[in-house]
Amino acid sequence: MTVYTASATAPVNIATLKYWGKRDKSLNLPTNSSISVTLSQNDLRTLTSVAASEDFKEDKLWLNGKLESLESERTKACLADLRSLRQELESKDSSIPKLSQFGLHIVSENNFPTAAGLASSAAGFAALVVSIAKLYQLPQNMSEISKIARKGSGSACRSLFGGYVAWEMGQETNGEDSKAVEVAPLSHWPNMKAAILVVSDDKKDTPSTSGMQTTVATSDLFQWRIKEVVPKRFDEMKESILRKDFATFGDLTMKDSNSFHAVCLDSTPPIFYLNDTSKKIIKLIHELNKREGKIIAAYTFDAGPNAVIYYEQENELKVLGLIYKYFNKVNGWEKLDTKTLDTSSDIQADPELYKGVSKIILTEVGQGPQDSTESLINDKGLPK
Ligand code: DP6
Repeated sequence: MTVYTASATAPVNIATLKYWGKRDKSLNLPTNSSISVTLSQNDLRTLTSVAASEDFKEDKLWLNGKLESLESERTKACLADLRSLRQELESKDSSIPKLSQFGLHIVSENNFPTAAGLASSAAGFAALVVSIAKLYQLPQNMSEISKIARKGSGSACRSLFGGYVAWEMGQETNGEDSKAVEVAPLSHWPNMKAAILVVSDDKKDTPSTSGMQTTVATSDLFQWRIKEVVPKRFDEMKESILRKDFATFGDLTMKDSNSFHAVCLDSTPPIFYLNDTSKKIIKLIHELNKREGKIIAAYTFDAGPNAVIYYEQENELKVLGLIYKYFNKVNGWEKLDTKTLDTSSDIQADPELYKGVSKIILTEVGQGPQDSTESLINDKGLPK
């Protein structure tokens, strides 16, 4: 039997201008454009291998070693779009194998523990879509492919590029103009670093999909955010990236995180993602910036209590010095020579703050999806 295979990796992205709200739920069309930084795949990535064969009677998915259902409408929408693009090729060239009619075996793994509470769906859907596009030898560019990833999970479309990425909301009802584009490549501003403080929390957060629906339906403040705040901020943030102006970029990033959490609080029933640890980290970063007399570090929080702190390499000793001072008991410092950090800051915070954080991930801006020579699938099309 002939088994056709391909493998690809895709990164995690963390928004600095948040996507929150859909104008179309089934197509994942957003109520505002958003911006993100793609993080390095050395620290966080999904590797996906796919196989197609005439002998595979059905589609199958193994996620982190476990056979999972492929019944979700979102995954089905992605597979249907990819198959239809492959079918176009097959109808033009009868000599190529009819992969669009074969079953698919998909094997996917993250290089970070899912338990870390980090949104892995963006990297997951991006890797799924990119690896199948590669298997099918689709000629479409990354922006076109990003529209398919978007149907899996909105934020996944931004994981199709490295560096600094925008998701343009688009106007069309069919979503054909709602796609990811590159704002600037990694090489434009390579010294952007990110420290992720994984905040421990027992309560289950409201899933982003249903949280957004509640906000769209009930928050008045949300109307102001999407009409007046975000459109202007979108242009300003893009410009700050092009100018490599960290002070402006950081200011807008923090403001937008707070605006997003404000519309969550303004929803009925209110949605709370930040906990006390998150709030103390927010204070710590504002205190640091105040002492410095300029913004050298910027926090952002997604639909959970984890903090992502962006800063530039040149300020690493100061920014990580302060974080190390309060979180040196937490795992994650191994890759750094912590003796060089500047821990002299007299900024006061709760000495027990470290108890609210379970892990620190030190990472940086990174590349978009990559072809992978490593494969998770054997020549029979089963997980290795
Ligand atoms: C707060 O992309 O997970 O992280 O489209 O319903 O899958 P769905 O939502 P998802 O939402 C991400 C929301 C966010 C902000 C962001 O990443 O822009």
